[in-house]
Amino acid sequence: MSKGLFITFEGIDGSGKSTQARLLATLMRDYGNDVRHTREPGGSAGAEDIRRLLVEGDPARWSPETEILLFTAARRDHLERTILPALEAGQIVVSDRFADSTRVYQGVARADLRKTVDTLHELMIGREPDLTFIIDMDPEVALQRGLARNSGEDRFEDMGLQFQKDLRAGFLGLAAQFPERCMLINGNQSPANVSGEIQAVIETWQA
Ligand code: ADP
Ligand code: TYD
Repeated sequence: MSKGLFITFEGIDGSGKSTQARLLATLMRDYGNDVRHTREPGGSAGAEDIRRLLVEGDPARWSPETEILLFTAARRDHLERTILPALEAGQIVVSDRFADSTRVYQGVARADLRKTVDTLHELMIGREPDLTFIIDMDPEVALQRGLARNSGEDRFEDMGLQFQKDLRAGFLGLAAQFPERCMLINGNQSPANVSGEIQAVIETWQA
């Protein structure tokens, strides 16, 4: 049995997940916790190698089915090498994305493949976070923020605004499906105010 706490951040591209995951990890460390801050796709050496295949290049580079396999392969390595050992050691794991991203990106927005995603998740991952923050916001603003970074990792941003709108609907659906662990956070405000909402949830959730 795992002893630590597993927290994930989810949302559309550019919604502020990475910013908030970083702020929460810092805050929890300041409170004296042992925190492992990680991300997907990536979070272990092998998964970071797979990440480059997924986030760079032409949007049509992979089919949605192939993406499911690549994201799940990366997640399995991340789980085996980073997440489970950290939880076993009693750490708080804060992950920027996890399985909910595959449920929404490959299961809803790229194609209607949620059943395939769920089957593979059950076979190969079989683990859910204890708490998930879904940062919800206007897809148009988020897309501008994401593209303005010029990160060279824009394969999914290049799928366009309608794709981001479908993703937002998918994440709202997930929040309704898993209300006990998924907390919706309003991303249309300053980073400090978003962080304040997240802290308020953590304080009541732990109580
Ligand atoms: P994500 O990880 O969801 O793609 P990031 O945290 O990388 O999002 O943020 C995307 C961009 O928007 C970054 O340039 C970041 O500095 C900026 N940003 C993050 N949060 C906010 C916010 N609440 N308001 C305005 N800009 C933000
Ligand atoms: P990320 O670096 O979090 O992108 P961003 O900062 O733009 O939100 O993730 C890279 C891309 O991979 C992102 O567009 C979402 C996509 N993705 C999936 O399609 N399925 C998945 O299972 C995961 C983890 C990410």
